[in-house]
Amino acid sequence: MFDTLFINLHAATMADQKTPYGAIHDAAIAVQDGKIAWIGKKSDLPDAPEKCAKDVIDADHQWVTPGLIDCHTHLVFGGQRADEFARKLQGESYEAILASGGGILSSVRATREASFEDLLKAALERARYAMTQGATTLEIKSGYGLDLESECKILRVIKHLRELLPMTIKATCLAAHVVPPEYQDRRSEYIAWIIKDLLPQIKQEELASAVDVFCEKIAFTLEETEQIFQAAKALDFDIKIHAEQLSSMHGSSLAARYEALSADHLEYMTESDVIAMKASGTVATLLPGAFYFLREKQIPPLDLLRQYQVPIALATDFNPGTSPINSLSTIMNLACVLWRFTPEEALRGVTLHAAQALGLQATHGSLEVGKNADFAFWNIETPAELAYYLHGRACSELIIHGESAQHCS
Ligand code: NIG
Ligand code: FE
Repeated sequence: MFDTLFINLHAATMADQKTPYGAIHDAAIAVQDGKIAWIGKKSDLPDAPEKCAKDVIDADHQWVTPGLIDCHTHLVFGGQRADEFARKLQGESYEAILASGGGILSSVRATREASFEDLLKAALERARYAMTQGATTLEIKSGYGLDLESECKILRVIKHLRELLPMTIKATCLAAHVVPPEYQDRRSEYIAWIIKDLLPQIKQEELASAVDVFCEKIAFTLEETEQIFQAAKALDFDIKIHAEQLSSMHGSSLAARYEALSADHLEYMTESDVIAMKASGTVATLLPGAFYFLREKQIPPLDLLRQYQVPIALATDFNPGTSPINSLSTIMNLACVLWRFTPEEALRGVTLHAAQALGLQATHGSLEVGKNADFAFWNIETPAELAYYLHGRACSELIIHGESAQHCS
């Protein structure tokens, strides 16, 4: 006897690529101990529904998808950057604003000033909003602290979110976001501090499972990135990178050499980068929100990624400077409209491939027996509707570990 049986639903399993969306129409899903114990056509159930499970829930012919996974966010930050948004619209570049002490550095100031409680309150609200949009898993980066106290404050907020919410939440240390002002003329000392002091402490306190570097002309060079990757690998952190967002530096090839879980942004990546990522199994996480908000023109090489069958994830990159967007269905819409993703590729990008970008593919990202019973119900006629509304899309119910997590609307 299963714990719970959901009946009368259409499942976009995302597991099986033989049918669009891996769809099973008129399906049932059984849950046991928080995991999917059975999924298939309702007519194939071994017995009458009420004889199969203690609880039977009629989903009224709604669609069910795997819980959505936002595999790249900067959701813990102080302040906002609306004035800079206005400056950018007047023609000032993202790079020039950073060089004048704004941009990432302006969020660093606001985040350093914010209390733990204020950061937690804002982050909780943002994570809860993501849940209304169907998210059951989040990755959240530090990177607006850039000193011991503030980086740890952000990572502790993330840890606390995990205690308050049923979601799966992964934390990534992005101390190598930019060089902070106090180290401006001694950048090698900042990198040495990350390597010798910060990463070992974060490891010891288990405050993050991955290390990310912003490899870009305005942030860290290829050589600096490699030094940080070496230290991160030695401490057994997973590796991630922000690469080829504004220029081609082949940070994605470097990350592939370090068997990174994902390389993210990638607008300027080349065929050799794609080949390197294919060889290492590194996921390409594309971030159309930042592309849109920065009014970028360079489109990531989608055809090459498809040709070499590199898994493509999509994420919000939710942050105050380049992507103030906290809805994965809005991101799906942007990927389809701006880059011609198919709606199915977009949904795979925020489920199966996003799980792989976090190393969670054994337990998350598709509706399959043995995986976590994390799923979202949607009052839609076809899964393509999830990528259709620019304003995002609220789910009607969210299930995490087999339990109702929230009535979303
Ligand atoms: O992913 N590219 C670097 N980091 C963030 C933006 C951070 C910011 O501008 O605050 C990004 O786009
Ligand atoms: Fe980012």
